[in-house]
Amino acid sequence: MQSGKKRDRMTFTQSAIWRERAHSIIPGGAHTYAKGDDQYPDLAPGFLVRGDGCHVWDVDGNEFIEYGMGLRAVTLGHGYRPVVEASYRQMLQGTNFTRPATIELDCAEELLSLVDNADMVKFAKNGSDAVSAAVRLSRAHTGRDMVARCADHPFFSVDDWFIGSTAMSAGIPRAVRELTIQFRYNDTESLIALFGQYPGQIACVVMEAATTTEPKQDFLASVGKLCRTEGAVFILDEMITGFRWHLGGAQKYYGVVPDLSAFGKAMANGFSVSALVGKKEIMELGGLRHDKARVFLLSTTHGAENHSLAAAIETMKIYKQEQVVERLHRQGDRLRRGIDEVIQSLDLEGYFEVLGRSSNLIYATRDQSKQPSQAFRALFLQETIQRGLLMPSMVVSFSHSDEDIDRTVDAVGEALSVYRKALEDGVEQYLVGRPVKPVFRRFN
Ligand SMILES: Cc1ncc(COP(=O)(O)O)c(C=O)c1O
Repeated sequence: MQSGKKRDRMTFTQSAIWRERAHSIIPGGAHTYAKGDDQYPDLAPGFLVRGDGCHVWDVDGNEFIEYGMGLRAVTLGHGYRPVVEASYRQMLQGTNFTRPATIELDCAEELLSLVDNADMVKFAKNGSDAVSAAVRLSRAHTGRDMVARCADHPFFSVDDWFIGSTAMSAGIPRAVRELTIQFRYNDTESLIALFGQYPGQIACVVMEAATTTEPKQDFLASVGKLCRTEGAVFILDEMITGFRWHLGGAQKYYGVVPDLSAFGKAMANGFSVSALVGKKEIMELGGLRHDKARVFLLSTTHGAENHSLAAAIETMKIYKQEQVVERLHRQGDRLRRGIDEVIQSLDLEGYFEVLGRSSNLIYATRDQSKQPSQAFRALFLQETIQRGLLMPSMVVSFSHSDEDIDRTVDAVGEALSVYRKALEDGVEQYLVGRPVKPVFRRFN
């Protein structure tokens, strides 16, 4: 293990070979944009082969302490045995049956025991499907077409209603794009204005409870109240906040009551499980016990894959037994404290900043004029990678030990010394190759 020390000879020869092969048969070379080459500098591991706890190894045999954790899905750690074993035990008994498996009800009860104010749940394989199902339900429930989504929250779904409202809307009909409108976070007036502009037309309001910005006092409550008075459905996307803010989600943490909410990511320590939960009067529209128009809610071949649900049940049990969310906050606090000290000692305030809740940290990179900079982000990634860190965000898991964190702080300190020099001499003096780019852009 060499993390913390600059490894001059870290090479990515195998990664380069795999990259060529991948791009020739997989558009973008990856199945998730956030994992793509444009998100990392040239000097980066292109492909990982295995993980253990918070450590991962690439195809060249380089080892990293990682802070992306499967796009925040892996909360306990890679290859976390109790979860893997629970899943394996279920696999041996069958992965998918012709009628519902009893484990579907077990998992439903486990999740609903954690989320107050949710009466029913439907499982799926990814967050996009869960959030989009919430949108469809809202449209059916209200008989309206429009969706008001928070402009300051980066991602809700791969489906047209959301992607059509981004810079990458190619392929999405204008008629669909025009149905999604946007309001600003912590700006109740901007939502009031939308309801005023489109009276009786907004089916739902879609947002996260918080990202790096905390809600102003009463903001979430006023969104809920507005939805009630305007007859719109209040949808909270808990894909990131669920199991990171609080065991009962950000809704529990902030004391807000959505009509529908969507969980995923951390629910099963990386196994593919998501869930739409919510009020019976709306959720039941997707069921058999009503006489209204039937809503095609969530229904996929693999939607309730038995062994993923087994992983989810075990993961949620561990969250409770081991007080995982508390530990995520503790370890994140330790990381933030250490890096903040480095920032101070290098006089980097305003240039490099650690942001967000301790259980879900990200960072901002800024240039000489203190403007957001993708070139400086690429440099920070490059220099941390060279020191054995894979750090697209600063998201900790239950497996990040004090020693891992302390090593990380040392390595970040060295990387930020280079950052400091780049502010003085120019980033191009230190960055090898091109800057990284945001995912949502119109052209490559
Ligand atoms: C806030 C939020 N909502 C929804 C999604 C979509 O989830 P999935 O990638 O599982 O479809 C994501 C994924 O990154 C997300 O961050």
